[in-house]
Amino acid sequence: MNYNFDELIDRHNTDSVKVERCKSLFGTENILPLWVADMDFRTPDFILKAIQQRLEHPILGYSMTPKNFYPLLIKWIKEHHNWDLKREWIGFLPGIVPGLSFTVQCFTEPGDEIIVQPPVYYPFFHVVQKNHRKLVYNQLNEVNAKYEMNFEDLESKITSKTKMLILCNPHNPGGRVWSAETLKRLDEICSKHNILIISDEIHADMVLPGSTHTPYATVSDSATQSSVTFMAPSKVFNMPGLISSSYIIPNAGLREKFVEFLEASEMGGGNVLAYAATVAAYENGEEWRTQMLDYVQGNINYIADFLKNNIPQINPMIPEASFLVWLDCKKMGMETDDLFNFFSQKAGLGLNKGTVFGPGGEYHLRLNVACPRSILVQAMKQLKETIDASRY
Ligand SMILES: Cc1ncc(COP(=O)(O)O)c(C=O)c1O
Repeated sequence: MNYNFDELIDRHNTDSVKVERCKSLFGTENILPLWVADMDFRTPDFILKAIQQRLEHPILGYSMTPKNFYPLLIKWIKEHHNWDLKREWIGFLPGIVPGLSFTVQCFTEPGDEIIVQPPVYYPFFHVVQKNHRKLVYNQLNEVNAKYEMNFEDLESKITSKTKMLILCNPHNPGGRVWSAETLKRLDEICSKHNILIISDEIHADMVLPGSTHTPYATVSDSATQSSVTFMAPSKVFNMPGLISSSYIIPNAGLREKFVEFLEASEMGGGNVLAYAATVAAYENGEEWRTQMLDYVQGNINYIADFLKNNIPQINPMIPEASFLVWLDCKKMGMETDDLFNFFSQKAGLGLNKGTVFGPGGEYHLRLNVACPRSILVQAMKQLKETIDASRY
C-alpha cells in the first residue's frame, strides 16, 4: 500500500498546539506553523481504525493493559534496536517528559547536580530546575556540521554532587544518532562517578535511512545497570496526543525504587484509547514507518538543496534521525530574537527559537519538516522573497 503524505489537512478547530498557539508565540495567526514536534501527516489509518473499533463498545471503563501490549513492544524493540528485553524491566509511563521529572524526583535530592547536553530539548532544563536541582551544562561541540559530545568538559563539570545525566538519544534538535563508541565513552565516565543516565529515546524509531540507533543501555553491562531508558510510539506514529510511553529499567534496585515512586503517585496505567493505538502501531506499523521516513528524508533533501542553491547564508544541520532540521543562521547577521522575528513577522514562518534549547542555540532556528512537501515549497518561497526584498 502506498501512503499519501502529500495530503493537506486543516488542523484548525482541533485544539492543536501547533496551530492554536501561533498567536501567543509568534504574535500572528497568519503564519505557516513549522515548530512543535508533531507531524502534519494523517495518523496512520490502522491506528485510527483501532481506536474507532474500541469506540464501538459503548463503555470506556477502567482498563487493564492489553495482553499483547508488552509482547509486541518487546518484539518491536528486538527487531528495530536489537535489544533483548525482559518483561519485568518495562512499565507504562504517561508521557516521557513527565517520566523525566519522575526520575529527577525519585533518584536525586534538591540541590543535587544534573547534567544536560545543550543545545537540547528544553523540557530537560525545566524538569531539573522546577524540581530545585542544579542544572549543569555539558555543551555539545559542532564538528564538521554534526554535534559531538565534549568529554573533557563533562569530566571537568562532575562533582561529588553530580547524580544524573539526561541524555537525548537520538539528539533533538541536532538529529544526531549517537554511535556505540560515543555512548561507551559516556558510560565509562558516568559509571566511574556513579552518575545515573536517563536516556530519552523517543526519537529512536525516527532514525533516517542509513543510520542505526543504539540504545544506551546496550553498550556495556555497566550502562545496562546504571540507566533508565524511555521509549514511545508517539513521535514515529504521530500520536503524541494519546500519551503512551514506556520505561525500561534492567537494574532491579533502580526499578523497584521507580515503581514505588509511580505507585505512590498512583501513576501506573494508561488510558483505553492509548492502549488500543499502541498495540495497533507495534502490530502494523513497519510499512507506514518506512514510507514516512523516506518522505521525511525527501523533505530534508529538498530543504538542504534549496538553501544551498538559494539562501547559502543559512546552513542546515542534516539530521540522522527525526524530522527536525537545525538551521544555523549566523551568516544572516542578526541576533537570535531578531532572526526569530524576521522569520515570523516578515516571512510568515513559525519556527522554534534556537536559544530556548540553551547554550549553543544562538543564531539558530529549528524547522519541523514533517509536513506535505508543498508546504515546505511555499515556506522556502516566502523566505527567499522576504530575504531578497529586505536587501533593498
Ligand atoms: C527528546 C524528546 N523527549 C520527549 C518529548 C515529548 O515526550 P512526551 O510527549 O511523551 O512527554 C519530545 C517531543 O518533542 C522530545 O523531542
